[in-house]
Amino acid sequence: MEQYIMKGGNPLAGEVLIGGAKNAALGILAAALMTDEDVVIENLPDVNDINVVLEAISAIGASVVRIDRHTVKINGESIHGVSVDDEYMRKIRASYYFIGALLGKYKSASVPLPGGCNIGSRPIDLHIKGFRALGARVEIEHGVVMAHAIDLVGCHIYLDKASVGATINIMMAASLAEGQTIIENVAKEPHVVDVANFLNSMGANIKGAGTDVIRIRGVRRLHGTEYSIIPDQIEAGTFMCAAAATRGDVTVRNVIPKHLESISAKLTEIGCEVVEFDDAVRVVGKPNQTRTNVNTQYYPGFPTDMQPQMTVALALADGTSIVTENIFDNRFGYVDELSRMGARIQVEGDVAIVTGVERLTGAQVNAPDLRAGAALVIAGLAADGYTVVDKIGYIQRGYEDFEGKLRGLGAAIEKVDSEKEAMKFRLKAG
Ligand code: UD1
Repeated sequence: MEQYIMKGGNPLAGEVLIGGAKNAALGILAAALMTDEDVVIENLPDVNDINVVLEAISAIGASVVRIDRHTVKINGESIHGVSVDDEYMRKIRASYYFIGALLGKYKSASVPLPGGCNIGSRPIDLHIKGFRALGARVEIEHGVVMAHAIDLVGCHIYLDKASVGATINIMMAASLAEGQTIIENVAKEPHVVDVANFLNSMGANIKGAGTDVIRIRGVRRLHGTEYSIIPDQIEAGTFMCAAAATRGDVTVRNVIPKHLESISAKLTEIGCEVVEFDDAVRVVGKPNQTRTNVNTQYYPGFPTDMQPQMTVALALADGTSIVTENIFDNRFGYVDELSRMGARIQVEGDVAIVTGVERLTGAQVNAPDLRAGAALVIAGLAADGYTVVDKIGYIQRGYEDFEGKLRGLGAAIEKVDSEKEAMKFRLKAG
């Protein structure tokens, strides 16, 4: 079983190049199937969730050519079935995007109910509500979502929650529906805008992405395109929090600073120096960082996917911070692990009361999910002594070469898969 082993205490310093946004890529890869022409996607992150989706795309017959590590050419002409069912797809949340993409193109899709990170109940009722409003019959049997339509017809949909997944999914299906669809109370996250831009580059007619209302005029067909995915807001934010927690000095490059504003604002509030450049942000941690409150919100609010990483920075700041999780109902699962490292955090429902401590101490901990796993690595890099993070499969789902990028910033961290390798690391790190 692979683990990360690290010796904490080095302030991270230097520059790190941020990859393409995983959550945009997941939508874009599914949307790429909606044409029979070639689609070239650049700036694709090389992470496990993406590779699982590429395999599923091949499995239904589409051609997938990896041009280089971050570029792929997809052609959906040879798709021979609308049933996506493999063991791995069941584990990832974004398998749901195959419903919208295949339903839009073939008017039929059969996809297992999504898995994904264990961060609370994650229903897809809003996706289904949207597909039904477009005229599809949707049933769930034996854990599989089956959607069929004779015709998809534009409609007016109000989302009860501004769900990222539902917004993208309905937008995809509606792109090939007859007439106009209006979706209200949509998600405004950068990856929603990126998927809309991608679909528009294929000939879709989507307006309003990034605002509360998206209007889609259905087109008869979509065509090929070449498209470069936006930088990953959460990967960038993770390194920014790592800079703060280790009192380092890190510049995240190849980012869109606007997408990072809520994170930059919180780091500034706790006393870090944050400098924005055209496509980079520099975070300089300070010795006496102080408390603040964090409320996760839909974009442009503070992202729920940054909550655990920010909590680690607060666990090492002066004073008591209140972190409120408003998006998911079980996203403090990592707190027990952090407590084993000496953090003082009390969870009451959706709220974590974080009393800053002067130091954390290394321990053996388990990554409970993707972002919390990254947060535990940050904690390990800031802690005294050795930390071992188990179950790093979660982290590898969403971070490309996490340990390599951290080493580039001076971290003493290694991926190991035996006690012997761990021993070797300890001997080397001293
Ligand atoms: C996406 C991201 C995830 C991020 C989340 C919020 C992907 C693959 N995952 O997840 O990393 O944490 O956005 O930014 O892009 N909800 C419903 N019914 C639905 C759909 C959602 O009640 O049909 C609720 C959820 O339970 C949650 C809220 O809406 O409380 C937001 O969820 P949503 O934006 O859909 O998250 P995901 O698309 O699953």
